[in-house]
Amino acid sequence: MCWMDVFYHPLWAVSTALLAFVVRLQRRVGWDPRACPVRLTGKTAIVTGANTGIGKFIALDFARRGARVIMACRSEARGMAALKEIREKSGNSNIHLQLVDLSSMESVRKFAERILEEEKALHILVNNAGVSGLPKQLTKEGLDMTFATNHLGPFLLTNLLLDLLKSSAPSRIVTLSSLNHKKGQVDFSHFHGENLTYLMDTVYNNTKLHNIICTSELARRLKGTDVTANSVHPGVVMTEVMRHYPFIIQLLFNIIGFFFFKVSTYLLFTDTIII
Ligand SMILES: NC(=O)c1ccc[n+]([C@@H]2O[C@H](COP(=O)([O-])OP(=O)(O)OC[C@H]3O[C@@H](n4cnc5c(N)ncnc54)[C@H](OP(=O)(O)O)[C@@H]3O)[C@@H](O)[C@H]2O)c1
Repeated sequence: MCWMDVFYHPLWAVSTALLAFVVRLQRRVGWDPRACPVRLTGKTAIVTGANTGIGKFIALDFARRGARVIMACRSEARGMAALKEIREKSGNSNIHLQLVDLSSMESVRKFAERILEEEKALHILVNNAGVSGLPKQLTKEGLDMTFATNHLGPFLLTNLLLDLLKSSAPSRIVTLSSLNHKKGQVDFSHFHGENLTYLMDTVYNNTKLHNIICTSELARRLKGTDVTANSVHPGVVMTEVMRHYPFIIQLLFNIIGFFFFKVSTYLLFTDTIII
């Protein structure tokens, strides 16, 4: 008998399947946002990319806790669908949609103008929207699409809304980064799509490093203002984040993710790393 035969024994398959399901169950310990005692009544929050994935559940959590939530989305149809769902699930009607394309600095400026005109206060800004795996693509403004969406747009937005955040203090800015920033590089020519390798998540990694550098510097400059700025790695979460990757990569992500990754409904308080 060859030692490899042990892998063909039915017990092997049964114990592997059992182990996989134990891991899956253990990873999926339920988390109920309603269990959080902190209320956000009277607080106004903006969440970018709030129509799906992590952003949608952040918006839902804020809504359940009584905040006025502004969902900053680029698609009216997807934004409205998520808005209806969040209103229904939370019972909070103070949820609003404002359109913004974070890859366009013109759109970010118009969005910020509207917010400054319409909102008396802003207590929470969550820079959540992001893309990964895009091929080389320049925006009309001559910026690399991934850099514009993940870093330049959120950076501009934060700075345009900073005075309102300061006048509403205590307030906070949270930027979704990623542990992948460790593989990132800083080179300002990247902003215009120069000297970049468009392979899998290489451009994404660079943008996530910029998120952290700028947020850390902002936090330093905001000391004493009662406005905090943090970058956060949410863990690996089953969302639409892989949608621009080749089919085979998406398939692998989903298979591995089924057992090991988080789903966005319970990510907010599990394994999240503040960077
Ligand atoms: N999922 C993970 O494992 C993971 C790990 C580390 C960090 N993160 C970070 O977490 C954040 C959220 O990711 P996710 O996993 O929830 O991804 P997702 O499911 O793909 O959601 C991304 C959101 O960003 C929006 N968006 C993309 N481009 C935009 C633009 N130009 N203007 C405005 N909105 C735009 C999308 O809107 P549309 O639906 O209209 O495209 C969508 O609402 C990202 O910053 C990501 O880098 C995620």
